[in-house]
Amino acid sequence: MKGNMQLGQSEKRGIVSFRDATLSETMSRAGAVAQRRAVSTDVSHWLSLYDDAGPTSSNQGAAQLPFQRWFRFKEAFSPKFVADIVASLPHRVHRVVDPFAGSGTTGVTCGFLGIDSLSLEVNPFLADIVAAKLTPVSPSSLHYERLRRQLNVTVADREQPDGMPATFRQPGIRNRWVFAAEIYDTVRALIRGLSQLPAAESRLIRVLIGSVLVESSNVVINGKGRRYRSGWQSRERCAHDLLNDLDGAVDAAVADISRFSVQVGATHEVRCGDARILLREVETADLAIFSPPYPNSFDYTDVYNLELWMLDYLRSGRDNRHLRLSTLRSHVQVAWEGTPRRIESDTLAATIADLEHRRADLWDARLPEMVAWYFEDLHTILTQLRRILPAGRHAVIAIGDSQYAGVLIDVAQILREMLGQIGFSLAKSEVIRSMRSGSQHGGGFDLREHCLVLERI
Ligand SMILES: C[S@@+](CC[C@H](N)C(=O)[O-])C[C@H]1O[C@@H](n2cnc3c(N)ncnc32)[C@H](O)[C@@H]1O
Repeated sequence: MKGNMQLGQSEKRGIVSFRDATLSETMSRAGAVAQRRAVSTDVSHWLSLYDDAGPTSSNQGAAQLPFQRWFRFKEAFSPKFVADIVASLPHRVHRVVDPFAGSGTTGVTCGFLGIDSLSLEVNPFLADIVAAKLTPVSPSSLHYERLRRQLNVTVADREQPDGMPATFRQPGIRNRWVFAAEIYDTVRALIRGLSQLPAAESRLIRVLIGSVLVESSNVVINGKGRRYRSGWQSRERCAHDLLNDLDGAVDAAVADISRFSVQVGATHEVRCGDARILLREVETADLAIFSPPYPNSFDYTDVYNLELWMLDYLRSGRDNRHLRLSTLRSHVQVAWEGTPRRIESDTLAATIADLEHRRADLWDARLPEMVAWYFEDLHTILTQLRRILPAGRHAVIAIGDSQYAGVLIDVAQILREMLGQIGFSLAKSEVIRSMRSGSQHGGGFDLREHCLVLERI
């Protein structure tokens, strides 16, 4: 499908269309833009393992791709998306910044292309996934066998930190629990044992433990949070199953590390924290590629809450709240304080007025303010990127619309209206796919996902 397209000056100067590239075109273009000869073979080989049946703005085709398969991150875009963007630009790229790194697709793909990268991510579990993928670890120094051999559950492993939901460990509350007691205890004992390993090895195994948690739990997770599996009471999972899954995850990671090196001749940095603040410290980059949270009330702290608590990233209710407060204001899970700043966009003003008018019909009365804050946050991010990127360089954004009580949040149009005052022009805008809106949003109509290529004026 060819999307709506609006072309700016850059189209004339040669940003070639990238969305319709076949996988073999992507592989050969990626090989051509790779910074070193040795890297170009690796990147083509790696991308050849990508399954290009699904949309490139989703991670569907990357489920079995080395490194990307370590943790199934549903909100990721694909390595093909990143490789095609880099190859479509009329200039060479030396350093890419991704302020919303998620599972690290931008950093990993840049690694294969031999391009330096800087990944920012507020969620410490996700930041560790990115760092684990980008930090070379020798399989022989992993000491995983030793960790397994020395595994021994103590009384302390049975405890739950203050603030962790009581349902996490059997017997839970009112006959509902997320983990059988022996699974909970085994995970906590493994995490305790990691303190004996060097930092990079410990981080890698920690995120791999994260990758097998949900399967050994009684819940499934989606954008709205946790839900008990149907018939979970009769689903028998024990610590042995968890450890088997973990052995498989470690084997897969070791195979990927042995086969490919992500880090050939380029430097990759990962910083954990709020991009609205961390970007202030970034001096230069010649490309930004990112997909921020959409204004759809999806709270990443909730979605990855199981991993955050079980892997010891959160140790108190305060930590949990602090993380929520540090995320982009795209959800209403915490009460944000203050009054939103007015952003120059007629469409945004009209959208907020419509939402206020329909406040009584909204599933949360704070949604009009959330939408205003969301665009205030994007304004902050783009203002920093304007400072970081040299003139003529690009910020490429994958972002989706939303709707509440029949009011459309037309993200692409609002951003278009904001750009001029920040110092970007819209070089290209494409609809990359349509998403069915959830019942939470009123259901029933298709929401668009866009790829916007902004050029620093
Ligand atoms: C759509 S996901 C990015 C997916 C990523 N492109 C990938 O391929 O894996 C958005 C990410 O933004 C992160 N995030 C939310 N608020 C943030 C903030 N204030 N600073 C940095 N990252 C943030 C979320 O934790 C989430 O991982």
